[in-house]
Amino acid sequence: MKAIILCAGKGTRLRPLTYTTAKHLIPVANKPVILYTIEKIKSAGIKEIGIIVSPENRQDFIAALGDGSQYGVNLTYILQEEPKGLAHAVLMAKDFLGDEDFMMYLGDNLIMDDIRPFVKEFEEKKELSALIMLSPVQEPSRFGIAVMEGNKIIKTIEKPKEPPSNLAIIGLYLFRKDIFEGIANIKPSWRGELEITDAIDWLIQHKGTVEGHIIYGWWKDTGKPEDLIEANHKILDEIIEEFKIEGTVEASSVIQGRVSVGKNSEVVNSVIRGPVIIGDNCTISNAYIGPYTSIGNGVMIENCEIENSIVMDEVKISNLSFRIDSSVIGKKVEISENDGKPKGVQIIVGDLSKVIVSR
Ligand code: G1P
Repeated sequence: MKAIILCAGKGTRLRPLTYTTAKHLIPVANKPVILYTIEKIKSAGIKEIGIIVSPENRQDFIAALGDGSQYGVNLTYILQEEPKGLAHAVLMAKDFLGDEDFMMYLGDNLIMDDIRPFVKEFEEKKELSALIMLSPVQEPSRFGIAVMEGNKIIKTIEKPKEPPSNLAIIGLYLFRKDIFEGIANIKPSWRGELEITDAIDWLIQHKGTVEGHIIYGWWKDTGKPEDLIEANHKILDEIIEEFKIEGTVEASSVIQGRVSVGKNSEVVNSVIRGPVIIGDNCTISNAYIGPYTSIGNGVMIENCEIENSIVMDEVKISNLSFRIDSSVIGKKVEISENDGKPKGVQIIVGDLSKVIVSR
């Protein structure tokens, strides 16, 4: 079995971060989101992985992941020139996939559950045309929805206004080659895209059986900044088992709970309350770093407090009289406060940035 990971989306809801970083490469707990996906796929014994990329983000993926050998997988980059939908992305991967059964994974979705039982079920039930991972959700109208009869899916609907079920398609699918017949027989939807849900519906009506595999564990579509913060929280809590102090922690500092400090990083006169992960070459001094904070490489944090946040590489934060909370701070951002007059806030931020100052 091969796998494809769909990464050609533009990530508009994560702008401005996605102006410079593809959304799947944004770090959560100091690791790009897509690496969690690659590890999941590998755990199911699949090593041949196609990454569907856009012309804009192709180079970023190649630079970040290479041929995949350092992760024990073999990566092939497949171009989707235009964002014409998930089914269109599958079509672009036709040569790569050949006649094999395959897994399709939406690259920005984090799934905690073990996916091996899902793959095993598909391998055992040869009569299935597709097996789709589903999960009950609060707002079904935001997702593709499956209507079930027993284990069978009898209908799928993309973002229904009046959802007939609360079982969402969460971004992990297993297909046999007849999905290509389905894709050949559908037309673009109202949003101008070839929808995978329409191709699945075609399979249900014209081919074999499509079943749903329901999971109840935590999963997240990391499409918005608050999703990244929640995912960071979850991963620091549950996935990272090994916290290591490799840098220097000066005696005047207090480290509480599970804390990692990377190589050549220095913690001086500060309180760090885990779970916290700090990358390499960072300086933390006279600071408080609170729970659920991930700090990248080459970051300087001085005379300030921060918690429940993601701080990317080479950020500088200093001399703040307020605490930074629940924030996502992109690469090389600088935040500081001074005593100068007039009293005010000077802000130099790119398009679509968000600054929230409390009174
Ligand atoms: C896509 C799929 C939808 C699925 C969702 C999961 O929607 O079209 O069926 O429920 O991913 O995240 P999108 O996020 O592209 O709007």
